[in-house]
Amino acid sequence: MEVLDTPAYVINEKILQSDIGLLRQIADQAGCRLLYSPKASSLAPVLTGVAAHVDGFACSSLFELRLVDALCRGEGSPHEGSLHLVSPLIDGSTLDEFGDRLNSVTFNSMSQWRKLQARVSASTSIGLRINPELSFVHDTRYDPCRLNSKLGVPISRLADLMADDRGVLQGIDGLHFHSNCESTDFASLLATARHIQDVIPEALEAVSWINLGGGYIFQSVEESAAFFETVALFCNGFGLQVFIEPGAAAVRRCGTIVATVRDIFEGDDCQIAVLDTSVNHMPEVLEFQFEPDVLGHVDDGVHTYVLAGCTCLAGDMFGQYAFDAALSIGSQVTFLNMGAYSASKAHRFNGVALPSLYTRRDTGRLDQIWADHFDNFANNVGSSTVAPA
Ligand SMILES: Cc1ncc(COP(=O)(O)O)c(C=O)c1O
Repeated sequence: MEVLDTPAYVINEKILQSDIGLLRQIADQAGCRLLYSPKASSLAPVLTGVAAHVDGFACSSLFELRLVDALCRGEGSPHEGSLHLVSPLIDGSTLDEFGDRLNSVTFNSMSQWRKLQARVSASTSIGLRINPELSFVHDTRYDPCRLNSKLGVPISRLADLMADDRGVLQGIDGLHFHSNCESTDFASLLATARHIQDVIPEALEAVSWINLGGGYIFQSVEESAAFFETVALFCNGFGLQVFIEPGAAAVRRCGTIVATVRDIFEGDDCQIAVLDTSVNHMPEVLEFQFEPDVLGHVDDGVHTYVLAGCTCLAGDMFGQYAFDAALSIGSQVTFLNMGAYSASKAHRFNGVALPSLYTRRDTGRLDQIWADHFDNFANNVGSSTVAPA
């Protein structure tokens, strides 16, 4: 057993290269530009690992922009990926700071656009997020097309505005939509594209690019036929440059979380194994109420445990898992497919340290590149001197 400072996020370089490589291949075959969305994981080895394969980054905030700029475009960086900003709320000062280094900025509403357009550099392309008003996500918390959605201008409203004034989009270079979540079914993307084409054809004729967002998991070239058709609809039908900005599809598989069993005791109908990690290191487990994949778990294993997190929350547990071999104190437990939205949503509830960070190199070597320590926690709660503004 490898000795690791647990809990630990482990980024597997080989898997990351393979998955971003597949996205590159599919984007090239489709004839579209590939951006990576750092919101899924902005861990340094992830950003530098995808940089050589993407055309740029679709950032959500000033901090993400600064990080990508420093890590992937800094002096001496071999990669000069483009920088794109898309967020429900953009601050004028971000536009001032990044100026013409921003390749595009996508506003979420007509009001954000009107308020901030004068602060956008002349060389930055302006986009407008639209809401296709076609839902595919059943959980409304994750449905960008839900009733009273805050995400983008509803296309029916845009159609009305364009009927009143054909020039309403003057100054807008591109359209952006992101309307799905973790879907492997590109038929819904194609249906969305056709719906947009039906409702706002004039808007598609008025712009030069469209960004299809993320929300889809690409599995293979063969399973991407409807994706290719979607890109062709916009490229061939309207002469648009198409962008995609996946996050999870690039990084979900490359990340694991390794934890250590620290206590074992009897529960009501099976043993409880308390780990040195917590659902707060992978908050989507609690948000989505799913049981994460665990290495070595077998349905008919004879040793069954509730794997539990180490915080005071009763629901800080991962589920019931069976194994062929018994766990004991000191056993390692590895959660699979944890590369997306784990580290970027993690927090230190109960003062539990964040997982340390390792990369599994191509050669198989495991390198530790970060460890949490008390000063980080203390800084976060304001215990250090606040720097003057
Ligand atoms: C605007 C936008 N683009 C891209 C993404 C990335 O989505 P995913 O990680 O599901 O590919 C998201 C995720 O919420 C998003 O909101």
